[in-house]
Amino acid sequence: MLKIENLTKRYGSHTVVDDLSFCCAPGEVLGFLGPNGAGKSTTMKMVTGFVPPTVGRISICGHDIDQAPLEARRCIGYLPEGAPCYPEMTPRSFLEFVADIRHLTGTDRNTRLDSVIEALHLAPVLNQSIDTLSKGFKRRVGLAQAIIHDPEVLILDEPTDGLDPNQKHEVRELIRSMATNKMIVLSTHILEEVEAVCTRAIIIANGSILADDTPEQLARRSRYHNAVRLSVGANENLDQAQAALAQLVSIDGVEVDPSSRTITVLAGAQTRDGETWQEVFDLISRQNWDITSLQLETGQLDQVFREITGGSHA
Ligand SMILES: Nc1ncnc2c1ncn2[C@@H]1O[C@H](COP(=O)(O)OP(=O)(O)O)[C@@H](O)[C@H]1O
Ligand SMILES: [Mg+2]
Repeated sequence: MLKIENLTKRYGSHTVVDDLSFCCAPGEVLGFLGPNGAGKSTTMKMVTGFVPPTVGRISICGHDIDQAPLEARRCIGYLPEGAPCYPEMTPRSFLEFVADIRHLTGTDRNTRLDSVIEALHLAPVLNQSIDTLSKGFKRRVGLAQAIIHDPEVLILDEPTDGLDPNQKHEVRELIRSMATNKMIVLSTHILEEVEAVCTRAIIIANGSILADDTPEQLARRSRYHNAVRLSVGANENLDQAQAALAQLVSIDGVEVDPSSRTITVLAGAQTRDGETWQEVFDLISRQNWDITSLQLETGQLDQVFREITGGSHA
């Protein structure tokens, strides 16, 4: 169990992390979501023992980071922001060095080295100095050192930053595959990443927790949750279609985009799941409209994020 209680960090008079409390259990992938400067990296630095909190307690697998820092840190793998590595080392010498300071020995050491080199596809660059590697490879070397001792807790600060779409996909798969028996906390400002890998999302801004929920439940807060989006063919009258849809009882409004000939029917706040969809569907059949696409929206996390964080962008 990872337990954070009343965590606060002040730099001078500036409170950058403000009384955060949360727990994380094995199997959870907790996404830390927030605009730049929200306090995500600072929280991770405190959780991993890199900077001391001004106030608060952190317990990692039963070890207090202040009272038993070595025991606590043994349980943690950490990818710091920017994934710093020693630039003059090669990935092989760097990972061997990290294996040694993590006290890996004998066949276990070799097995773990082989395993992370394979998982992060580092074989082609093993003997090239790190400062000559692309950003994607550097990040993967950083990830490899974070997981080499197979830690119970993984703290990953923007793990997919700088990766191309294929590499992002692979790293997300890796995170998912490790999630069954670990506690993983990752920060990101890519909302699709939260939907793809996180079982839970904490939205923070100005150092405070504004929401703590599953991505699905957060998306339900979107005004587009249960909305029905349809596109009508070129022969249909868009205004008439809009007017007819606006008469439906379960809805909260109708938005029209003339350029794509798309109409979005917003479900009312009290509407049951599927109700608006059924109403729109019945109307389309009655009117015999020429429909080119029809879809049900689950909700847009980016819209919820903007609303919760007051419009500031991640
Ligand atoms: N060592 C420091 N001294 C003073 N201010 C800092 C220091 N580290 C971070 N901050 C400030 O704390 C705030 C939160 O930063 P950070 O935790 O990096 O945010 P995030 O990772 O969410 O983008 C920012 O306003 C940043 O300028
Ligand atoms: Mg950061």
